Amino acid sequence: MAKDSVAIYPGSFDPITNGHVDLVKRTLRVFDNVIVAIAINPGKDGSLFTVAERLQMVREVFKGLKGRVRADSFEGLLVNYAARKRATVIIRGLRAVSDFEYEFQMAMMNHRLKPKLETFFMMTGESEFYISSRLVKEVVSLGGDVSGLVPVNVLEKLRQQFKRRGTQT
Ligand code: PNS
Repeated sequence: MAKDSVAIYPGSFDPITNGHVDLVKRTLRVFDNVIVAIAINPGKDGSLFTVAERLQMVREVFKGLKGRVRADSFEGLLVNYAARKRATVIIRGLRAVSDFEYEFQMAMMNHRLKPKLETFFMMTGESEFYISSRLVKEVVSLGGDVSGLVPVNVLEKLRQQFKRRGTQT
């Protein structure tokens, strides 16, 4: 392991799920530090949680990890953000074949923009491969139970959010 190595784990994290958490913990076996980087998408953002709320949830989840996991947000190109953070690697999770095309395109584009920045793909754990933020939100909005699929603080936030919107039964 390179000393003080930094991997960037970018995404929407709306909200963070146990699939993301598993990936971060496994990344820490290889890299010293992980930055969970929440992309800000001005104009085309239909997110459930604000960036500040998402950052707070991520920070709560990893607060026991001695500062090895940081949460941050960024605007603009990921490759430029990675360069500012002196990160050499982007981490992305792969769940199923359906993820592959989108991930492959992004990795190739990022490689074209910054050839020295690598993308490492990790397979999601076998108990998490079907979890996605999108499905979790849909299930909670329809009154379903997602405990065990998201961290407990996120579960609580999801319930509050949908209660406020009056969409949960
Ligand atoms: O969790 P997501 O929504 O699949 O993450 C997508 C994300 C945030 C990694 C991607 O949209 C991104 O990198 N956005 C930043 C803007 C950028 O660099 N776009 C070009 C990507 S090739």
